[in-house]
Amino acid sequence: MALKGRKVVVIGDGAVGSAYAFAMVQQQLAEELVIVDVFKDKTEGDALDLEDATAFTAPKNIYSGDYADAKDAELVVITAGAPQKPGETRLQLVDKNLKIMKSIIEPLMASGFNGIIVVAANPVDIMTYAAQKFSGLPKTRVFGSGTSLDTSRLRVALGKQFNVDPRSVNAYILGEHGDSEFANYDEAEIGGRPLKAFAKDANLSDDDLEQILYQTAHKAYEIINRKGATYYGIATSLARISRAILRDERVVLPIGAYLEGEYGLDDIYIGTPAIIDAQGVAKVIEIPLSPAENERMQASAKTLKAITQDAFA
Ligand code: NAD
Ligand code: LAC
Repeated sequence: MALKGRKVVVIGDGAVGSAYAFAMVQQQLAEELVIVDVFKDKTEGDALDLEDATAFTAPKNIYSGDYADAKDAELVVITAGAPQKPGETRLQLVDKNLKIMKSIIEPLMASGFNGIIVVAANPVDIMTYAAQKFSGLPKTRVFGSGTSLDTSRLRVALGKQFNVDPRSVNAYILGEHGDSEFANYDEAEIGGRPLKAFAKDANLSDDDLEQILYQTAHKAYEIINRKGATYYGIATSLARISRAILRDERVVLPIGAYLEGEYGLDDIYIGTPAIIDAQGVAKVIEIPLSPAENERMQASAKTLKAITQDAFA
């Protein structure tokens, strides 16, 4: 399925979608990049603007398109949806964004699309669940950005704290992409040495680590309060996930995966590491959590389940 034309369709050309398209062009990840939005002038303008960048990258076919263009795409990335206003939580977006998701998936599937869907629209775990339900595509081929961005935020914070490259920090944010997320500090490590040993050397208590988690989980609010939206971080996360799919990497990434028994949970999309390849989610990786962390995973899942049950009742 993948590695043919490497055709990618981004649906939603707002702050996140356009930053993602730019990241894809910069990283030369797609042969064909189609931009779809209800705001046609914006997609046409962005396609023309991005095309100018290809003289410095490599020839790429970038255009403003429609759902019919998704027919033979390997990957569709959905960023369409209302973003949070300052002070608003992600979960408060559920009603309006579910309607938008439905209006997208119907024409998308009518096009004959049979690839992979990656969802970033919020609340992302619920929107991913909706995209899978509405599309009927296999659960391994519909997944969300989940806690990808949150994990990068945590790694950046810990990298600063311990003066090490964030790419060497093996720690995850798990659970909801939202207020109930948590860090797997008990299993986290840097270079094979427990993160908690680094914390001890730096005289950081468990409360200090909790404070780093709090700042990570609230970073979106800090950014939205200052500039109205977050987009560079998620755009780069989405490009990283796209690369794993388009290059069949089998790399382990934190995403929002469908669980079937992992962590004792079923019928839910939630943040966890998984192996990503050209077929989508090749395997969910269940981290053996400590009892306290497992409780947080269950609580986070409970929050999501309550909203999902309401929305799909
Ligand atoms: P934005 O308002 O800048 O862009 C949203 C775009 O969606 C607009 O261009 C709008 O025209 C388009 N749109 C609306 N309805 C549509 C439809 N039916 N079909 C096609 N396009 C449609 O918002 P943004 O800042 O780009 O955020 C987009 C979404 O991504 C939000 O839900 C936001 O919360 C979410 N987000 C998620 C993460 C994450 O980590 N998962 C990070 C940042 C933002
Ligand atoms: C984020 C978005 C708002 O930046 O979900 O985390």
